[in-house]
Amino acid sequence: MSVSGSVVERPSSNLADVCDRLERGEIVCLEAAGLMVDESDRAVLMSVPDTALRHKNVSYAPRTGALGGMAGASSIAVRDALRRYSERVIEMCAALLAPYAGTWRIELASFRPMEERGRNLPVRERNDLLHLDAYPNRPSNGARILRFFTNINPERERLWVTSDPMHLLVDNQRFRALAQGAIAEADSPWVGRLSAVGRSLGLALPDRSPFDRAMLRLHDAMKRDRAFQAGCPKFHHRFAPGTSWLVFTDAVPHAVLEGRYALEQSFFVSRESLRLPDLAPAAIVERLAGKSMVPRMARL
Ligand SMILES: [Fe+2]
Repeated sequence: MSVSGSVVERPSSNLADVCDRLERGEIVCLEAAGLMVDESDRAVLMSVPDTALRHKNVSYAPRTGALGGMAGASSIAVRDALRRYSERVIEMCAALLAPYAGTWRIELASFRPMEERGRNLPVRERNDLLHLDAYPNRPSNGARILRFFTNINPERERLWVTSDPMHLLVDNQRFRALAQGAIAEADSPWVGRLSAVGRSLGLALPDRSPFDRAMLRLHDAMKRDRAFQAGCPKFHHRFAPGTSWLVFTDAVPHAVLEGRYALEQSFFVSRESLRLPDLAPAAIVERLAGKSMVPRMARL
């Protein structure tokens, strides 16, 4: 299989090189990966009625086989299609990204059936505003979020815009102010104590590290900040029908402008397996904070 980035094309024989490119913030396109779903599975996915959707995305948990975000008669067929997609992606990535595969954690897969252009969503949920990914209910504890996407739409491109990766963007005055504000809020001792009290009272609150709290706040702050959205560097990408691509979405600000019918599989990549750990969001946040933001016991 050959892989290519937005500019250059290189052989895949040097797996460490693919990891380096991803960690430096490149989107790696997999041109010869094929569609990653059979035509029959694509037909199932593209015929899901809007009335069956309970959330903006349909999720599939590879570790349990659970389907979320939809109900109705087609649920079992959709779950089976997502399971087959997830298995293919994991097998391909285990070969392509061997340095990560020994310690990564396989996260959710998802199906994105809605048209992205013109959606009426609250600011925090908008996909068309540049943001870094952070999961509210699944703290990464400093592991990196790697995502494999496939545009299964047979006719239309999926349009993205990205900005500079976090290790470059941290020199942007506006971004740096947002990051420092997010870290200051997240590092308040009261925030951690309040959530601990809530958990002791039986509330289902995730045990987030200060790093995870900072990234969640930064996700929201980036979307809300009009000056950042208007003034940051921007790069446009057009993913053709059938294209798959890999990117660390925790460090590459991204927004989806247009497109319908995409699949995705996420991974948590451990800090210990990174080729360039100083470029990871956890390292950047810790440099800005001047201290560790992830308890050692909490790491992946
Ligand atoms: Fe995202």
